Amino acid sequence: MRLEVDITSKKFESAAGEQHDVIGGVSFALDAGEVGVLVGPSGCGKSTMLRILAGLDHDFQGRVSRPVSARIGFVFQEPRLLPWRSVEENVRIAAPLADEAKLSALFDILELKAHRNHFPGELSLGLARRVALARAFAVEPDFLILDEPLASLDVALAARLRDEIATLVEGRSMITLLVTHDMDDAVRLGDRVILLSPRPARILADLPIRTPRSTRGDAETAAIKADIMRRINGDPTKQAAL
Ligand SMILES: Nc1ncnc2c1ncn2[C@@H]1O[C@H](COP(=O)(O)OP(=O)(O)O)[C@@H](O)[C@H]1O
Ligand SMILES: [Mg+2]
Repeated sequence: MRLEVDITSKKFESAAGEQHDVIGGVSFALDAGEVGVLVGPSGCGKSTMLRILAGLDHDFQGRVSRPVSARIGFVFQEPRLLPWRSVEENVRIAAPLADEAKLSALFDILELKAHRNHFPGELSLGLARRVALARAFAVEPDFLILDEPLASLDVALAARLRDEIATLVEGRSMITLLVTHDMDDAVRLGDRVILLSPRPARILADLPIRTPRSTRGDAETAAIKADIMRRINGDPTKQAAL
């Protein structure tokens, strides 16, 4: 199982007929078991790229190859839950074949047990994100896409959810692609950090993290982050990614 990406160009056309370049040239590959993290400034084309990789947008130049049978779990930037369905129904509709034991384990890890019968309108952003994660994992994905799953959460909540995501990612061999603005999250969750330029997105750097995720305590994480920041700070073009 391997994802190969070679997008040479993606444009949007405005209502006035003007062309806007959104992706300028992005190529990388990810293997099963690998977590790639995309870091880039707001508006550079990250969500657009994720939609292309998931096969939701075919209007681009270049090539994306992933196994045809790959099951995709997509956590969108907004949780996108069905408002008239309970938490449990939102997950079950996406994954009708998931058994009770599996759902229980997911709700347990994501601290959703007490919220099964709540409706999306009753949930905080942190809880809604957890439901979106439960829904993505319930389908047992081969390719997991996470679009800023920790954005706008307070520090403590984001740290807890990040640990829950790490647990879930460790438990399943799949291709994972995460978008974040936070270098700390990137370093804690990723095997590779891919820095993107401002729009139109190009890859500025593709930085592997060789220390296994499970052995990255606070000290290792800080050291890896410092190493990446050193490499970025020596190069003004790369600072544009942050
Ligand atoms: N459907 C669309 N039509 C026109 N422009 C769009 C559309 N979706 C996104 N854009 C534009 O493409 C650029 C990249 O958007 P996006 O991929 O959401 O950025 P990011 O996720 O990196 O913040 C932005 O300038 C945005 O306004
Ligand atoms: Mg986005």
